[in-house]
Amino acid sequence: MSTPDGHPDQPGTSGSRWAELGEILVIIPTYNEAENLEPIVGRLRAAVPEAHVLIADDNSPDGTGELADKLAAGDDHVHVLHRQGKEGLGAAYIAGFRWGLEHGYGVLVEHDADGSHQPEQLDRLLDALRDADLVLGSRYVRGGAVENWPKSREILSRGGNIYTRIALGIPLRDATGGYRAFRRETLEGLGLDQVASAGYCFQVDLAWRALKAGFRVVEVPITFVERERGKSKMSQAIVLEAMARVGRWGLAHRAQQVKGLFGAAGKG
Ligand code: GDD
Ligand code: MN
Repeated sequence: MSTPDGHPDQPGTSGSRWAELGEILVIIPTYNEAENLEPIVGRLRAAVPEAHVLIADDNSPDGTGELADKLAAGDDHVHVLHRQGKEGLGAAYIAGFRWGLEHGYGVLVEHDADGSHQPEQLDRLLDALRDADLVLGSRYVRGGAVENWPKSREILSRGGNIYTRIALGIPLRDATGGYRAFRRETLEGLGLDQVASAGYCFQVDLAWRALKAGFRVVEVPITFVERERGKSKMSQAIVLEAMARVGRWGLAHRAQQVKGLFGAAGKG
């Protein structure tokens, strides 16, 4: 297996327990995460040393981008994608996915910068990816947990997942979570060009696309720990976008099903 461009001398992952999956890229979108970046990159590099890290920064005013450049200068497994301005989590991930696909990675991981996702649990996601096309880190399956969330945020998240499950008719316990691992073939089969979700409903969007395309989607338990430093970028606009889009997808899907029934009846 070849190593990603630009790093021809690296040993690659041939000795790793995930070698069959190809090279691993962990994408970290950042907006004003200067206090959090170095600790999280350090933990990731220690937990899964063979994985590469891509920081996708939206020109953070607090200097996160410059800090990322410094980390990249000192570690050939750390890379930076500088973007023009704040365009939302979804847009940053799509840009990161494209970069990773272009550079030949076999596994692309979504990971927050703020300490909510535990790098020490990445091995669970990677292990499960051996028999799956997309692995979701899940707070709401047995063994999963949330720590330090205000009750209001937990209700929003649990409510959002119930709404999603009913609107789309899917079995996932945590379709909104943001700690996940994709095989490259999965991302290539999702139609990333057509993804318009900007905020957190991006997560539901990709899970829904993967299920519809027939990919194997598996949930593994994770512990989500609310950030201690900096601020969440969650907003009312993000929640409303998610509710509206998920509702529309659900209606469109049901309309398709009904059309299918009439189509079949017409032929019979
Ligand atoms: N580049 C970029 N641009 N990064 C962003 C942007 C943006 O516009 N908005 C947020 N981020 C980065 C943050 O800097 C952080 O690293 C990560 O995306 C998550 O953002 P938070 O603002 O901390 O998200 P959260 O804790 O409210 O939400 C998390 O949990 C949700 C489910 O409960 C995320 O993992 C969501 O994806 C997830 O849906
Ligand atoms: Mn967060």
